[in-house]
Amino acid sequence: MSASGRTVSSRALIVRPADDAAIDAAAELLRHGALVAFPTETVYGLGADATDAAALGRIFAAKGRPADHPLIVHLAAAEELDRWSENPSPAARRLAEAFWPGPLTIVVPRRDTVSPAATGGKPTVGLRVPDHPVALALLERTGRPLAAPSANRFGRVSPTTATDVTAEFAGVSGGPGLVLDGGPCRVGVESTIVEVLGGDPVLLRPGGIPAEFIEDVLGRALQSASGPARASGMLASHYAPSAAVELVEPGDPAALAAAVAAALATGRRVAVLGLPSAGPARRTELDPAAVVLGPVATTEEYARVLYRRLREADRAGVEHVVALLPNPDGLGRAVRDRLRKAAAPRP
Ligand code: TXA
Ligand code: MG
Repeated sequence: MSASGRTVSSRALIVRPADDAAIDAAAELLRHGALVAFPTETVYGLGADATDAAALGRIFAAKGRPADHPLIVHLAAAEELDRWSENPSPAARRLAEAFWPGPLTIVVPRRDTVSPAATGGKPTVGLRVPDHPVALALLERTGRPLAAPSANRFGRVSPTTATDVTAEFAGVSGGPGLVLDGGPCRVGVESTIVEVLGGDPVLLRPGGIPAEFIEDVLGRALQSASGPARASGMLASHYAPSAAVELVEPGDPAALAAAVAAALATGRRVAVLGLPSAGPARRTELDPAAVVLGPVATTEEYARVLYRRLREADRAGVEHVVALLPNPDGLGRAVRDRLRKAAAPRP
């Protein structure tokens, strides 16, 4: 909910606290083909009726996203798997049972009930049941599956608050008709995407459910995706703030201090991200001219605040972010993935 609890209008974007009346209004807009931004446990989504090709076209236009990048289709309950997927594999069923509602997207063969506009013309569809009361209430009231990419312009940092969504779309024509404000997102990075078509399961994007948990349920290892990018988040540069991003591996405070010193020596405004709240890499080792972007106590906290801190850095006029990578287990794998893409050379 917005701090004041009131409806806020920001340059033609209407933001409402996600109460029953606002959810009813949002469902009505969606049934008429408009776009609605809504909170999920991962990030805010830019939703449209997944059975309405014209509404789906509006998502691609508003985001500036290439039409061949498929969208995730959100469902109200795990029981809907068979309505939108043709013969899901036993592995797909097991994953849906174990992790829905939750931050796991399962790529399965699509049924004709899903508009090809949602799947970028692919024979498969990415499905997930979000674990957020507002998203679930909206899905139920709309009575349709909702295609929803993250509610940001293509290639940019995903939004984790309603204010982030308005910052992305204020002044952009064809953006959401309404932004439902459900407060900050609990997970903070996007869902894990696993392709389960019957052969070896493939991890297409690390995310809110650690890969180890999925491997435990399936009783086998996930293959990593190779070849041309199959998910848009797999492109080299993505999730990028305006500031340049430089990465430092954990466990080497001297390397961190040296990276900060070298960046400051270029005369730019420098910030440090992912500093642990305690331990050898703590602030006292660093040049105090560098801005510390809120230290993190755990990997879960790092995931939750990652995008928010990158946005803060941009707002504060930071030109160079030195990011300390987390260890690559649990949510650390998703955080490392997003930071690598934020640091990749920009087109
Ligand atoms: O947490 C999330 O997943 C958020 C919230 C809003 O649910 N959504 C999200 O959507 O991150 P988006 O569009 O930003 O990323 C969806 C990713 C893209 O990289 C897309 O290529 C991939 O999912 N994807 C969707 N359907 C696919 C399919 N059939 N095959 C392969 N990749 C697919
Ligand atoms: Mg996205």
